[in-house]
Amino acid sequence: MKRVLTGITTTGIPHLGNYIGAIKPSIAESNDDAIKSYFFLADYHALIKSHDPKLIRESSLKIAATWLALGLSDRSSFYRQSDIPEIFELTWILTCFTAKGLMNRAHAYKAAADLNLEDGNDVDKAITMGLYSYPILMSADILMFKANEVPVGKDQVQHVEMTRDIALRFNHNYGDILTIPEVITNHSKETIIGLDGRKMSKSYNNIIPIFLEEKPLRKLINKIKTNSLEPGVPKEYKDCTLFALYTYFATLEEIESIKKLYAEGISWGDMKSILFEKIFNFFDPYRSTYTDYLSDEAFLEKRLRLGGEQAREEASAYLKEIKSAIGIK
Ligand code: TRP
Repeated sequence: MKRVLTGITTTGIPHLGNYIGAIKPSIAESNDDAIKSYFFLADYHALIKSHDPKLIRESSLKIAATWLALGLSDRSSFYRQSDIPEIFELTWILTCFTAKGLMNRAHAYKAAADLNLEDGNDVDKAITMGLYSYPILMSADILMFKANEVPVGKDQVQHVEMTRDIALRFNHNYGDILTIPEVITNHSKETIIGLDGRKMSKSYNNIIPIFLEEKPLRKLINKIKTNSLEPGVPKEYKDCTLFALYTYFATLEEIESIKKLYAEGISWGDMKSILFEKIFNFFDPYRSTYTDYLSDEAFLEKRLRLGGEQAREEASAYLKEIKSAIGIK
């Protein structure tokens, strides 16, 4: 059976870009009998980016509540990275097979180092070993569960390629022990645009959270950047953020009739109302489940712990094999 695995860093609130690019396809996979899926909260990855305990805690709960409320199947393995200590043991093992030069090329580290040089600072300023070794932890996440396919956004492709490199080096020495994963990017072919016209991303502060209440959601949608064409002037739907977001939640017929309204010169205010209704109503059926889950920390805790226990059983059996191959029993 094909094994699909992906992780979610717990430093943000799930937004529409996450929904379209990751959550929706992952939930479909969790319900597919031909796939064994693993989805986890990468909370120790979060520690690389954030030292704010409240943010990491809140983000973990909101991500878990969102995925579960939107219908993640129980067939899927859903757990917290931090609940599987075997991942960190494997991280060390893999560290000993990772060329330092490979990590020098990792783009998150490289961007930080380049920025330091540009600013005339020491090249290592404010760079932790966590950031530097980030791809090794990610490799352990992937290899621990013998994932065949890893669906990720474009910015993570390099890390999966590094995982392959590291696993091949290990296998070269010990035989076919680690599964070499394939990277899958078709989930995120399209870039979901945020409030300001750039890619929707928490680092740009331009996101639309999935389960925002009615008023703040309306307010946020009113902030979406448009051109300044007046009502009554025909408008282009191509490259319009309002239109692009609308298409993800609408039927083909609805999309066609919106195109007509653009040609007839719909006002941006009216289009924003239409988009608001669409998004609000789309997620409305799940809203009360989401709020119930989120207000029941004990439930989320139990669900994640259970997922963790099941995943851990697999991980510990496999780690024994890996250790025995190395000569450590
Ligand atoms: N680094 C990924 C991100 O920031 C999250 C992640 C951690 C991940 N471990 C993973 C994704 C393993 C896929 C597989 O988006």
